[in-house]
Amino acid sequence: MSIKTDIDRKKFPEHVAIIMDGNGRWAQERSLPRSAGHKQGVMALRDTVRAAVELGIKVLTVYSFSSENWSRPQAEIKYLFKLLERFVRQDVAELHSHSIRIKIIGQRSNLTRKLVEMLEYCEDLTKDNTGMTLVVAFNYGARNEMTSAVKALAQRVADGELNPNEITEQHIAAHMGTSGIPDPDLLIRTSGEQRLSNFLLWQCAYTEFVFVREHWPAFNKDVLESTIEEFRTRDRRYGGLATSTG
Ligand code: FPP
Repeated sequence: MSIKTDIDRKKFPEHVAIIMDGNGRWAQERSLPRSAGHKQGVMALRDTVRAAVELGIKVLTVYSFSSENWSRPQAEIKYLFKLLERFVRQDVAELHSHSIRIKIIGQRSNLTRKLVEMLEYCEDLTKDNTGMTLVVAFNYGARNEMTSAVKALAQRVADGELNPNEITEQHIAAHMGTSGIPDPDLLIRTSGEQRLSNFLLWQCAYTEFVFVREHWPAFNKDVLESTIEEFRTRDRRYGGLATSTG
């Protein structure tokens, strides 16, 4: 029985986050330039968005450019920015027609005005959509996100709006880029690496991690389904006892 038709959706991940890793290695294995890996990576992203909609995933978050990626060669950075611009130009209308809501998280202060306007356009166009939410982490770093949240809360304290003793986890969550979005249930990282790389550190407190060997450009619906099957075997205890414990 396919996941989609399986009526037991209790153990189905509503929010799936993906660290799309291995574009460079995929290209290298084929004696292609790294840019070819990124280009194929965009195609894998398109297919994955479609598959996620078909499977009934409510939120899909993808890590498309980290704040650490600035240390890459200029030409590669330029190419990744070009791909984002192209993605916005070519794909947003289709995403919108499927009622997908787009949210972009990450720092904007060091992006060009033109790019910020493009990102705002995507968010604004799709803000009332009620289908899947696609969160694109671009120029994103979790420590930076948490630092911004701390600064904002400190400012509210300095302004006399908030008593430090009354600060709760909800206040912190409300100052994250992901405010209003439930935490990821499942985090997938491709390409065999097993680390978080400064991605959603706050939000992944109780997330299940699944690491797959495939490089991102080779990711597809079958691999996504296999990670969901793996997720369904996990016993999520949130610090409590196993469900089988009597
Ligand atoms: C990791 O592969 C991938 C990235 C740093 C960028 C991910 C970007 C895309 C899939 C395309 C762009 C998407 C949008 C929305 C614009 P890597 O380069 O680190 O591969 P390697 O570890 O094998 O070198």
